[in-house]
Amino acid sequence: MRAAPAARLLKLLLLLGSWLEAPVVAESRLPAVVLAILARNAEHSLPHYLGALERLDYPRARLALWYATDHNVDNTTEMLQEWLAAVGDDYATVVWRPEGEPRSYPDEEGPKHWTKERHQFLMELKQEALTFARDWGADYILDHSVNSLGGYSSGGAGACDVPSPKFADTDNILTNNQTLRLLMGQGLPVVAPMLDSQTYYSNFWCGITPQGYYRRTAEYFPTKNRQRRGCFRVPMVHSTFLVSLRAEGADQLAFYPPHPNYTWPFDDIIVFAYACQAAVCSVQTCEKKSYQVQKVSEGVSVHVCNEHRYGYMNVPVKSHQGLEDERVNFIHLILEALGEGWGTVPPTCCYDSLPPHGAPFPRP
Ligand SMILES: *[C@@H]1O[C@H](CO)[C@@H](O)[C@H](O)[C@H]1NC(C)=O
Ligand SMILES: *[C@@H]1O[C@H](CO)[C@@H](O)[C@H](O)[C@H]1NC(C)=O
Ligand SMILES: *[C@@H]1O[C@H](CO)[C@@H](O)[C@H](O)[C@H]1NC(C)=O
Repeated sequence: MRAAPAARLLKLLLLLGSWLEAPVVAESRLPAVVLAILARNAEHSLPHYLGALERLDYPRARLALWYATDHNVDNTTEMLQEWLAAVGDDYATVVWRPEGEPRSYPDEEGPKHWTKERHQFLMELKQEALTFARDWGADYILDHSVNSLGGYSSGGAGACDVPSPKFADTDNILTNNQTLRLLMGQGLPVVAPMLDSQTYYSNFWCGITPQGYYRRTAEYFPTKNRQRRGCFRVPMVHSTFLVSLRAEGADQLAFYPPHPNYTWPFDDIIVFAYACQAAVCSVQTCEKKSYQVQKVSEGVSVHVCNEHRYGYMNVPVKSHQGLEDERVNFIHLILEALGEGWGTVPPTCCYDSLPPHGAPFPRP
């Protein structure tokens, strides 16, 4: 009679054991993701950005870091190096592409000015990250730049019809630690988490002209202001977005070189938007009561999701403005995020004493 309770206890322990192990097993089967990060002159925002990145609720063993930094006039390279030295080993793999010199592009008016060389260099880097992700066998790539390209129209999205889009650097901070899981859960080929900003900026367009320029639409503000919630198909997303490399047509996506028929503005986010539109996907069509697979140019769909708060982007500065203007904008952003209960956190390893030009961590 004494054996029975012991056996029951053993069984209970075994059950408990497998229950405890279950999440571990499941974690190792989670999709592998490459985080593609391009940083330039990001000293003011890097600690906030890395603090948020570290806290993403996703096993680091399923994440690869692909980091590039170049043309810096501040300590971005040193700061990234310090952080990678401290936490890099936790991640599945790390690719680190720093370029110390030169510190600026030829013909640029200042560090906030986008020249053709800068666009091209950025496209090539992004393509390199994409190629790495494919070769590594990743399921997804998250494009998540810090103080690197974001696109917006100079009159403000929706404010007026502007002749050409202007591009600017944005800092994106993913304050929601569920961002990766929530985006994956949508099962979409290309999906951006809508980022909040203090003004009318965000990281998506609702309309695009046949020439590849920003088009004003009635949907933009209701989406930006979350009167309209969900995931919406849009022609363009930028700054932070997730690409499923297993999705139909994803093998045709590229940042560089542009599609052979490309005539739109020479810019990485538009080149990518075009590649999505131009991708040829096979779809099941029903014709004359017999199903057949047809090749159609439906493209790879691009979505923005806004049903959750995912994070913030700052108001980009104009091309003639400097890093100090950018830093001031960023401090406002951090304070506003704090006011709304989405305070930022420092990285676990570094920058106890913040860099001389960094934005302070808000004290609640
Ligand atoms: C994610 O963030 C929420 C809200 O800030 C927090 O309560 C939770 O503990 C975090 N989860 C993880 C796994 O870090
Ligand atoms: C880089 O960091 C060092 C040490 O913190 C500091 O003395 C220096 O002023 C920084 N340089 C720039 C350009 O901010
Ligand atoms: C480029 O456009 C031409 C004419 O519309 C078309 O026939 C051709 O297939 C396109 N090329 C590619 C690679 O899509």
